[in-house]
Amino acid sequence: MASLSVDCGGLALRNPILSASGTFGHGLEMQHFAAPHSLGALVSKTVTLKPRPGNPHPRIAETEAGLLNSIGLENRGIEAYLRDVLPAMASADCAVVTNIGGEKVEDFAELARILHERSEVDALEVNLSCPNVQGGKLPFSTDPRVAQAVIRGVRAATNKPVFAKLSPNVTDIGDIARACEAAGADALTAVNTLLGMSVDWRTGAPGINTVMGGYSGVGIKPVALRCAWQCARAVKIPIIGCGGIGKASDVLEYLVVGCSAVQVGTSCFSDPSNIAGLAAEVASLLDARGIADVRALIGSIRAFAPSPACATAVGKA
Ligand SMILES: Cc1cc2nc3c(=O)[nH]c(=O)nc-3n(C[C@H](O)[C@H](O)[C@H](O)COP(=O)(O)O)c2cc1C
Repeated sequence: MASLSVDCGGLALRNPILSASGTFGHGLEMQHFAAPHSLGALVSKTVTLKPRPGNPHPRIAETEAGLLNSIGLENRGIEAYLRDVLPAMASADCAVVTNIGGEKVEDFAELARILHERSEVDALEVNLSCPNVQGGKLPFSTDPRVAQAVIRGVRAATNKPVFAKLSPNVTDIGDIARACEAAGADALTAVNTLLGMSVDWRTGAPGINTVMGGYSGVGIKPVALRCAWQCARAVKIPIIGCGGIGKASDVLEYLVVGCSAVQVGTSCFSDPSNIAGLAAEVASLLDARGIADVRALIGSIRAFAPSPACATAVGKA
């Protein structure tokens, strides 16, 4: 059977499949559907310094090809996370990644300092899509200098692997990717949700209370794949692809464009057990093609070349 183990910025993973933050509880709520040992790592929901109530309901709406959400980073804060959640996550048989968020640049460094002390945490993922209260509520992810300041603070606070989670809602994601690499990120997660909205034309009511929210799921895959590819071209550190993944072939597509691992999010809502089977399905696809090691696929994208039949047809036209 093909070897599936990969290295992600210093974090050794038994396979390249991770849960995506906020879509899998803190990982353990789903263990009756998907055993943690079937995953490379569990990623927590975003944890902030203080508890956050989140946004008013409704804050999830289904669309033709995915979900809109405006959860607003609801969580019980770092104290409750350390007391009630982390010990249980650590008992799971896979790596543990804690995803952190903040309102100010310093919040991220403070959280990293606290989590640095906890041996149960194998890596930190920095959610740069949080609104920056000192920057007109624009997300940290939209300005390379601000993103760099956040990652620099986290880097100074811990030597655990640091993943910078990027937003697709930017003009040039390569700029942000380079800024995070320069600040010391060990890997990049590409990407968080796309900004979207929905409305019911009959009632005039938006699908979610905040009108705009994060769009995720199968509909975002081409955009997220493009972002992951751009990041892979921009930096040397590993990329963790995320966006619209639900099948083993999606996983392999992300690896081919340059990702070392992937995260599975919205597809867990429609079938929470699906993620548990992905690693075995990836291995069968590789076996069928005689590929002994999943790492052989990473970054194997090549230039487009028309198939011989297509080239002949074009030549005749
Ligand atoms: C309901 C919901 C909650 C989410 N919460 C978080 C979160 O707390 N922190 C975070 O970094 N990303 C969060 N995300 C974004 C996902 O982790 C992921 O980046 C995004 O949904 C794209 O992947 P997908 O298309 O597989 O869902 C959330 C997504 C959804 C749908």
